[in-house]
Amino acid sequence: MTQKRIAIIGCGAQAKYASEIFHLLPNHAVTHVLSPQNITELDWLSHYSGTHIIGYDKVADLIANNDIDGAIVCIANKQEKAEIFAKYVLGKTETVSAIHPKAVIASTATLGAGVIINAGAVIQPLATIGRGAMIHANVIVEHDCSIGAWTNLAPGCQLAGWVQIGEAATVFTGASVVPTVKIGKRAIVGAGAAVIQDVEDDTVVVGVPARQIKKWGKHGLTR
Ligand SMILES: CC(C)(COP(=O)(O)OP(=O)(O)OC[C@H]1O[C@@H](n2cnc3c(N)ncnc32)[C@H](O)[C@@H]1OP(=O)(O)O)[C@@H](O)C(=O)NCCC(=O)NCCS
Repeated sequence: MTQKRIAIIGCGAQAKYASEIFHLLPNHAVTHVLSPQNITELDWLSHYSGTHIIGYDKVADLIANNDIDGAIVCIANKQEKAEIFAKYVLGKTETVSAIHPKAVIASTATLGAGVIINAGAVIQPLATIGRGAMIHANVIVEHDCSIGAWTNLAPGCQLAGWVQIGEAATVFTGASVVPTVKIGKRAIVGAGAAVIQDVEDDTVVVGVPARQIKKWGKHGLTR
């Protein structure tokens, strides 16, 4: 059987998830894992089969030498993830997604390129997941939800129908969002929150019901 040779760009938790997922998929092989220049050792990679290369820019050589068939960017920092994707992957090699075989994806759901979807996640009919999104274990994305590119849905969070989430937002562990709520770009929903009204762009909300505690200002977070 011909295996798709995949490079993982990044070496943190998202890279570990993707390595494990491709390990479970018979026709995919992670042949290379690329880390930033300052990370010279990856102990966990010895469990899998990939080769560790230092420097994200080296992916250009892998593509030029026809050493890989596709790549996935696995970087937690959303802005960096988007930049590395645009610079080294988009239009240069196939953008691969890592979808755990125990995730449930409705046939009418739409997945953007380069997403990671972990075990137990359920993506319901007509939901849309944007490019590069990270969907953790046991997340529920209900029908007709729209999830922006680069967004991070942490373990066990639950989005009811028609929820809309902007680009590069985060909904942390175990938070719940009621139907039709809109969560803005780069917004953060704290662990365990219950979101019952819209969340503005660039804000942090926590609690039950969720209330705004911070806003991203010109110089970072302000209270
Ligand atoms: C939302 C979050 C990011 C805010 O972190 P922060 O900006 O450092 O916030 P602070 O620690 O300064 O807390 C500010 C206030 O909000 C409260 N608060 C923070 N997180 C809260 C939460 N999840 N639920 C309720 N209250 C919370 C704090 O108690 C504090 O209250 P106070 O001002 O009355 O003392 C963080 O608390 C959180 O929920 N992290 C989740 C991490 C997670 O799930 N990671 C999984 C990755 S896969």
